[in-house]
Amino acid sequence: MPTRHEAASPSPVVIIGAGLAGLTVALQLAPTHPVVVLAKRNLDEGATAWAQGGIVGVLGSDDSIESHVRDTQEAGGGLVDEHTARFIAQHSAEAVEWLVERGVPFSPDPAGPLGLHLTREGGHAVRRIAHAADATGKAIHDVLLDEVKRHPNITLRERWMAVDLITSRHLKTDGSPRCYGVYALDIDRQRVETLPAAAVVLATGGAGKVYRYTTNPDTSTGDGIAMAYRAGCRVGNMEFVQFHPTCLYHPQERSFLITEALRGEGGQLKLPDGTRFMAAHDERLELAPRDVVARAIDFEMKKHGLDHVWLDATHLGEAFLKSHFPTIFARCLALGIDISRQPIPVVPAAHYTCGGVVTDLDGRSDLPGLYAVGETTYTGLHGANRLASNSLLECVVLGKTCAEHILSQHESGRPILPAWDESQVENADEQVVISHNWDELRLLMWNYVGIVRTTKRLERALHRIKLLRSEIDDYYANFRVTRDLLELRNLVDCAELIVRSALSRHESRGLHYSRDFPQTLPVSFPTILTRKPKRKAAPWAA
Ligand code: FAD
Ligand code: SIN
Repeated sequence: MPTRHEAASPSPVVIIGAGLAGLTVALQLAPTHPVVVLAKRNLDEGATAWAQGGIVGVLGSDDSIESHVRDTQEAGGGLVDEHTARFIAQHSAEAVEWLVERGVPFSPDPAGPLGLHLTREGGHAVRRIAHAADATGKAIHDVLLDEVKRHPNITLRERWMAVDLITSRHLKTDGSPRCYGVYALDIDRQRVETLPAAAVVLATGGAGKVYRYTTNPDTSTGDGIAMAYRAGCRVGNMEFVQFHPTCLYHPQERSFLITEALRGEGGQLKLPDGTRFMAAHDERLELAPRDVVARAIDFEMKKHGLDHVWLDATHLGEAFLKSHFPTIFARCLALGIDISRQPIPVVPAAHYTCGGVVTDLDGRSDLPGLYAVGETTYTGLHGANRLASNSLLECVVLGKTCAEHILSQHESGRPILPAWDESQVENADEQVVISHNWDELRLLMWNYVGIVRTTKRLERALHRIKLLRSEIDDYYANFRVTRDLLELRNLVDCAELIVRSALSRHESRGLHYSRDFPQTLPVSFPTILTRKPKRKAAPWAA
């Protein structure tokens, strides 16, 4: 039976994830508290470093908090939590200033607010996106990571993957529910370690890899959502998966995004014969919110039997394109596409997980001791469709409030946590089972749970997901864990959450469009799911 003793010095806060959410929380805690940050791949891998367009800042004299809240609500299809949207808009200027103070090299404009150039993206009434050319995420991540690496209170554990949360359930006591730490796989040493924590912060990013075609990096396998769900937390709005309208279509590029800012600066969507088609779909043309533009492209591709449509930016001129979009210019040129002379072939691809772990504005989940920040969460900001460049903003604003809440708590005691038990497992016999199931899951999600859905396809998907789940659970119960197996286990949980949420929404709204329920209901609520208690667990996780 585990015993308790009073804490002598504070246990570290364990932050799972080294993207913008995780690094923001770490830097806010570190002056007074020890912190451990886990990253399951290299530290520079994650969606943050791939972000292109920028971060919202309500900074301009032509802008206002109300205008940003209105745009967020309009993009969000009536499901945005107004209080959350207003709180985040009110703190946006402070968030951008915090990044500027740390040294993030945003694109300058001597005449702009804070000396910054502001660009525009779909759904925004005005220019309000601070950016570092077309590689904003890398500029932010490099600066914060450098500061984190130099901080004496922060320990970085690269290639350590959180497996599951350690909760009261593992202690087998009658105490109230709480998160006490995390089991984490040290990938290079192939050992699962027990990490006790004063608090655990999920900052694991989204779940885009659940789809065959995605703009997301390999890290986006929904680990935080799946871990929190398995631990009994509520998960919200998982049916709302955002498809970005313009991912480069090229056999040598798996998932390269063509930023929405290119349309913000005048890029036009065209059919092969050069006709613009957005006027037939929305009066805001190429700058309609993403759900509208992605559905329009999907419609035109199906109607004309196309593999892709064209994004034409040739009229913007070589000098402008090279200075504003240097990354995209260079990447396309390397693939033989001179974007100043040729249109760019583009297709929609899974881009952002609007749903996730239900949290309040302090990042608190349902489980005391467990917090979540960033793309892994559902805070109410994004509703049924995220407004462009609101994600990086949410990471910074709520990363700060989350850290403040953690610092306001007292650590009452530390139970002794059970070690990970591998006595009943052996090394896997055939890794091919895992890669096969990965491919199958991602393809079925793409084919059956994509931009346009039907009840029949969703039911088919759920049936197949259940079969995959039982194979994966079996594998998990009998073999030593590897990163691929753990990611697949998490992806299948997220896939099921997406499909069950989609099946329970009997209307079309924002990113969820169903042919069987094309109407938008006058009143609608977020979709909230909790774990059914009866799922069979592996022996050591019972
Ligand atoms: P991430 O940056 O994805 O970081 C997740 C971290 O968690 C990684 O370090 C990963 O290794 C770690 N991790 C995951 N699981 C585990 C585990 N089990 N154990 C240990 N570590 C784990 N948003 C905007 O606002 N503006 C933009 O311009 C923009 N452009 C984008 C462009 C692209 C191509 C993409 C893919 C997204 C873009 N987004 C943009 C969205 C935005 O980048 C992300 O939503 C945001 O960066 C998420 O940050 P995060 O810290 O929550 O997660
Ligand atoms: C983009 O640059 O188009 C992506 C912006 C975002 O996802 O917010």
